[in-house]
Amino acid sequence: MIAGEIVWGWEVGTGKGEGEDMDPTGYPDLDALLPRLDGIDRLDGAALEEERIAVLGRKQGVLTALLRGLPELPAEERRSYGAALNRLKASFQAAFEARTGAARDARGAPSVDLTMPGRRRWVGAVHPVTRAIDEICEIFRSLGFTVAVGPEVEDEWMNFFALNFPRNHPALDLHDTLYLTDGGTDGVEAGKENGGRLLLRTHTSPVQIRVMQEGPPPYRVVIPGMVYRNDPFDPSHAPGFAQIEGLAVDEGIGLVDLKATLTQFIHRFFSPSTRVRLRPSYFPFTEPSGELDIECQLCHGSGCPACKQTGWMELLGCGMVHPKVLENTGVDAERYSGWAFGMGPGRVAMNRYGLPDIRYLYSGDMRLLRQLAGRDA
Ligand code: PHE
Repeated sequence: MIAGEIVWGWEVGTGKGEGEDMDPTGYPDLDALLPRLDGIDRLDGAALEEERIAVLGRKQGVLTALLRGLPELPAEERRSYGAALNRLKASFQAAFEARTGAARDARGAPSVDLTMPGRRRWVGAVHPVTRAIDEICEIFRSLGFTVAVGPEVEDEWMNFFALNFPRNHPALDLHDTLYLTDGGTDGVEAGKENGGRLLLRTHTSPVQIRVMQEGPPPYRVVIPGMVYRNDPFDPSHAPGFAQIEGLAVDEGIGLVDLKATLTQFIHRFFSPSTRVRLRPSYFPFTEPSGELDIECQLCHGSGCPACKQTGWMELLGCGMVHPKVLENTGVDAERYSGWAFGMGPGRVAMNRYGLPDIRYLYSGDMRLLRQLAGRDA
């Protein structure tokens, strides 16, 4: 394209409005207007609008008046004069438009930048621990369990003594448990009537007591919730974490039911071929007590750093509900028996996704959450 050629009212190559460089037309009355064309660049606001009306206005506009006079001119003059007049009018129009646009930009009025990247939509995801809890609850629901919840603030009776902890059990130590009050009893007097010091529950097991206090068996419940311990935040510990408790009490329930139910759960949650083993352990509120391991989800039993070369991963604590616990809540221990378990869905999620550090679950790092949300185990 040739510089100076007019395209859509703009001079190509100069980057300037058409009118600004308009050559004299040779008609004195038109050329007399050229200084005003140049002057538009220096006008603003009301002065700019006034000038626009003075030149192009339908009633008073000078150019409008000249255009109106065109038909009176002799035909041969009309042509070239008319063409010059129209060019001048277009120049004025372009100059006014350019100036108005510049003023608008200078005022900072919003302008649309079509090259700007669009805003990404923020899509949330269910946290891996919440997801594990939901799935665990769903599997137990299909096995006939309901969901129960209890408060995160308990007293010593609920958290420890109703669960058959001896008064001198190390878990009662300040190093392990986060107490909220002194209570004056220091745990020594704590009983059913006087629960002792308030604390942040260290496990979901006190909700077993609350469920059993509600009325007579049978009970089949799972109990998700947060628990708190005076632990440092390190790759395998957090001061606050989720647990899920399970409790089944009825006539004639035995260890076989415990193992069968938990094996069924693990086969559904992990995979039908996941191997399970039950090891003896100790908890004050179960007798006998056990810990349940599953085949390491990373090496499938051959041994790797995640399972410390054992081929197994610890999943949960469990056992037959201690008769003292049944009696503490008024359940007839001669007639009823049952089992309980407690597991950490955080640990479950770590096993499932092969996370090396529990702190990832607390970081709120959207990259991790997004990655896990899109990944079905
Ligand atoms: N409450 C125990 C813990 O936090 C787990 C558990 C629950 C063990 C129920 C046996 C039965 O470690």
